[in-house]
Amino acid sequence: MSNYPANRRITTNDLARFKVEKMRFSALTAYDALTAAIFDEAEIPVLLVGDSAGNNFLGEVDTIPVTMDELIPLARAVVRGSKRSMVIADLPFGSYERSDDQALENAIRFLKEAGVHGIKLEGGVRVRSQVQALTKAGIAVMGHIGLTPQSVNALGGYRVQGRGESGKGVIADALALQEAGVFAVVLEMVPAELAEEITATLEIPTIGIGAGAGCDGQILVWTDLLGLTAKPPRFAPKYLDLRASMAEAVTKWRQDVASGVFPSEDHSFH
Ligand code: KIV
Repeated sequence: MSNYPANRRITTNDLARFKVEKMRFSALTAYDALTAAIFDEAEIPVLLVGDSAGNNFLGEVDTIPVTMDELIPLARAVVRGSKRSMVIADLPFGSYERSDDQALENAIRFLKEAGVHGIKLEGGVRVRSQVQALTKAGIAVMGHIGLTPQSVNALGGYRVQGRGESGKGVIADALALQEAGVFAVVLEMVPAELAEEITATLEIPTIGIGAGAGCDGQILVWTDLLGLTAKPPRFAPKYLDLRASMAEAVTKWRQDVASGVFPSEDHSFH
């Protein structure tokens, strides 16, 4: 990316500039230091320590069981592994809904204990008060509307949100978040036309996931993009088949151990 900073982290100002200059940007999830370093070197401006760590790292079926105590060490690892990406951590289900104070307390934990540069939380109008409390405290907040996976049970599954009349609700959520001070908003699984309209309406950048090509940026779960997830969602492309490559390599090594081919002289000491 041209104008990509050489020796400093991406900031909210850079993302605002990308929108003004119509430079589409990318964002990826990251859950550990090694992959964070790879994505950082590949100039991915935003790394999200998503609560998708639940189903993509911790072996849960969804994001609902994920806790602050589980995410903080992952967020710290992603910050340590990266040099230039902005690192955002997800407030997990149950860590911000109760009150502004609860949201503040947990966001502050992420900043102090993991060193992240901002936090993300799910919801629009319903979390306006929490977002205001966080932004008033000087915390960079990313919104997340449309399909909000923490509400999967209430939504009746991982379904496209905002078709037809209900699109007005998604627009109201986007405007409420902008007014409350978020620096960007994730639009998940909304119709492409609606995402395009929201992107044109908002001054802040939109980051789409299953929301078409009209957003300012795109975000994906890295294990979907690189083919590690067993059953990725329809909107996720597979740029690599890491699952097959890893299985093949590990099987070959197991066979080499069994046959005595490994360790060779190259891997032995005398
Ligand atoms: O947790 C996550 O990975 C997310 C992205 C899908 C946006 O919220």
